Amino acid sequence: MKRIVILISGRGSNMEAIHRACAEEGWPAAVVAVLSNQPTASGLAWAAERGIATASIDHRAHADRAAFDAALAAEIDRHQPDLVVLAGFMRILTPDFVARYAGRLLNIHPSLLPAFSGLRTHERALQTGCKVAGATVHFVTAELDYGPIVLQAVVPVLAGDTADTLSARVLVSEHQIYPLAVRWFVEDRLVLGSDGVMRHTGNAPQWLFPTPDSRDT
Ligand code: GAR
Repeated sequence: MKRIVILISGRGSNMEAIHRACAEEGWPAAVVAVLSNQPTASGLAWAAERGIATASIDHRAHADRAAFDAALAAEIDRHQPDLVVLAGFMRILTPDFVARYAGRLLNIHPSLLPAFSGLRTHERALQTGCKVAGATVHFVTAELDYGPIVLQAVVPVLAGDTADTLSARVLVSEHQIYPLAVRWFVEDRLVLGSDGVMRHTGNAPQWLFPTPDSRDT
């Protein structure tokens, strides 16, 4: 049984999708804790209501990034995770933190990386005139929004889209690919090649294109 710790900063809809899929699909895994840097993150209450251990480690209460990351790591390690999942965790992590969880730290970013790392991804995609957008699940390395890619979802940019409508369409696809990527991890289906590319052991497609449902969202 693999132990998953999820880090959030806000509503935690990706956390919910992962927790739901884990329970409904009977993964050999459990979400053992949900932690946040924001004490008011609404996802914390959602997790607590389901009996999941929660804690907040307020980054503002720490002198610097290193002190915050050390406190966060201490809290994570209490739960002895096999996998740490960043699900809308809006903090830049120190290289020491990333190295501590190397190979067991996943992130989702709402763009087709390596395009539009960082913030305001949807606005920037619209300003650039992109015709497609999407989301990427990747292992975390010291470089921001970089690291071996597990899965990508592609959605269309539609006429009249705003950052909000595009974000909502991308989010639907996030809820499809993040649980799948976590499931692959807990089922030991991912292998990192000597070329640095992350592959599925059974050659499952590592991309997702929109279904009619998600196109309308
Ligand atoms: C998601 O869109 C996620 O991709 C993004 O924050 C949102 C969190 O939503 N993450 C990043 O931008 C990280 N760079 P959620 O709290 O409902 O899962």
